[in-house]
Amino acid sequence: MSPRVVRTVAGARRLRREAREAGRRVAFVPTMGALHEGHLALVRRARALGDEVWVSIFVNPTQFGPGEDYDRYPRDLEGDTRLLEREGVATVFAPAEREMYPEPPAVTVGFGGLEDVLCGASRPGHFAGVGLVVLKLFHIVEPDVAVFGQKDAQQAVLIRRLVADLDLPVRIEVAPTVREGDGLAMSSRNRYLGPEERAAAPALYRALQAGRRAVASGETGPAAVEAAMRAVLAAEPRLGVEYAACVDPRSLQPPAGIAGPVLLAVAARLGGARLIDNVLASPDGVHPETLSDLDRAGGFR
Ligand code: PAF
Repeated sequence: MSPRVVRTVAGARRLRREAREAGRRVAFVPTMGALHEGHLALVRRARALGDEVWVSIFVNPTQFGPGEDYDRYPRDLEGDTRLLEREGVATVFAPAEREMYPEPPAVTVGFGGLEDVLCGASRPGHFAGVGLVVLKLFHIVEPDVAVFGQKDAQQAVLIRRLVADLDLPVRIEVAPTVREGDGLAMSSRNRYLGPEERAAAPALYRALQAGRRAVASGETGPAAVEAAMRAVLAAEPRLGVEYAACVDPRSLQPPAGIAGPVLLAVAARLGGARLIDNVLASPDGVHPETLSDLDRAGGFR
């Protein structure tokens, strides 16, 4: 059955009320569309967690900076809806920009500095925009559970803080990164890559694997782990490396010494694309796949 496509906040609230009255748990996957296997994996995870799956498709202008790819970000609501139909999605919430932002928002969402490191250092305002739109979406959809991808680890860390600090009644589940056969993390922005850039892109994942090996072989200094990742990235001259970081998965700061799981994260420009990727790494060599797995293993101290 085709998902119901709802374009208004009032329409979404009405359908949500109906789901609640029918006692159905809603599992929610927020997206910006241009869906690929990575998104569909989030949808499948959501299906396992709720009675019905809702997906939002909204290219959120407040999370794009000047000169970023807001205008050229791929949009294909029809194609996306067809993919979601095959996944049994109940509702697609696809508001127009004016519906979400009838006037420029005055409220801002801050994260106490967590939003200024890693990707935030080169994308000022990005996570404030993500925080705002996710908070709005949560208020509209009122999901029981929401699924985010490990691929956007910093976003997942911030959303978890948003939910914890504001006591939002939603469980956040972080689902594994889906990769191409050569390790490249799936992303809507991969379609910006030309053939030679596409061939260079798996260096990001190779760098993360080198970082994991360093952690698992007993390296306790985050700088040395970062150097191991940078050495791999440096071998690929097309990459404009933004960061290669070894940080605590909660504070996003480099740990004094690596004694437990750490987040290894890289970002690089490649042609017209900005690519990010990350993995968790554990000194015992049993690497959790996601922040949620780390929770379940009791890894956050
Ligand atoms: O991860 C994304 O696609 C976006 O940042 C999100 C969470 C849908 C907010 O616009």
